[in-house]
Amino acid sequence: MGLELTELTTHRGRVQVLKSCSLTVASGEVVALLGPNGAGKSTLLGTVMGLYPSRTGRVLVNGQDISRVPIHKRIAYGLALVPERRQVFSHLSVEDNLALGAFYRRVPSTDMSRDLESIFQLFPGLQKHRRRRAGWLSGGEQQMVAIGRALMAKPQMLLLDEPSLGLAPVVTKEVFDALAQLKDAGLTTLIVEQNVSQALALASRTYILSNGEILFEGSSEQAKEALSSGYLTIG
Ligand SMILES: Nc1ncnc2c1ncn2[C@@H]1O[C@H](COP(=O)(O)OP(=O)(O)OP(=O)(O)O)[C@@H](O)[C@H]1O
Ligand SMILES: [Mg+2]
Repeated sequence: MGLELTELTTHRGRVQVLKSCSLTVASGEVVALLGPNGAGKSTLLGTVMGLYPSRTGRVLVNGQDISRVPIHKRIAYGLALVPERRQVFSHLSVEDNLALGAFYRRVPSTDMSRDLESIFQLFPGLQKHRRRRAGWLSGGEQQMVAIGRALMAKPQMLLLDEPSLGLAPVVTKEVFDALAQLKDAGLTTLIVEQNVSQALALASRTYILSNGEILFEGSSEQAKEALSSGYLTIG
């Protein structure tokens, strides 16, 4: 699935957060969106998903304008968001959390168990916790549940908001290994990350957002050079 954002301006309350942001993600591509705290990264993902309306500009999915389409219909268009701070339903089991991701697909139970197994293949460590309450799990395991739940919707495009936030390096690596597998499978992805080196290694192209404006757009290789030479900074 291809995504094109043209000159988006999004307000949160009275504050204009996004100032004419344009960005593209080609079908099958992984793109990173980096930038300091408060830059508007989550707002941009939320605008794509339909959580916040943009005043001007357009959100195009496969060339079709979905700027005025409500959130549940955007899920039907194949968009899935893994929000900041891994929001799992802590009183529900891991399996039930994952099954909720398939809610809009209305899958028969035989397909449901097959789809659940594919998530446990991607995150083998979750298998032994499948009947535990999600709130009982470690932060890393909860993040895997949150990603797994988004994948249960069978999205054509994944929007990831800081999947490695607060995770130990070894767990971060596990999460990024899974994201690399999804990339190899051709899943179109837009990822927001504070872990710059992991994000640049995964993504082919990178955007840097600062104070609501896109400051940089280029290959991840170019972003790496610009950041290491000090020409660009984040934070
Ligand atoms: N409900 C709100 N009302 C008004 N302003 C808000 C609201 N929520 C967020 N903002 C402002 O919008 C701006 C962008 O926030 P956003 O969460 O998109 O940034 P971010 O780049 O995701 O930051 P972080 O790296 O901390 O997650 C910030 O300046 C923030 O203060
Ligand atoms: Mg954010």
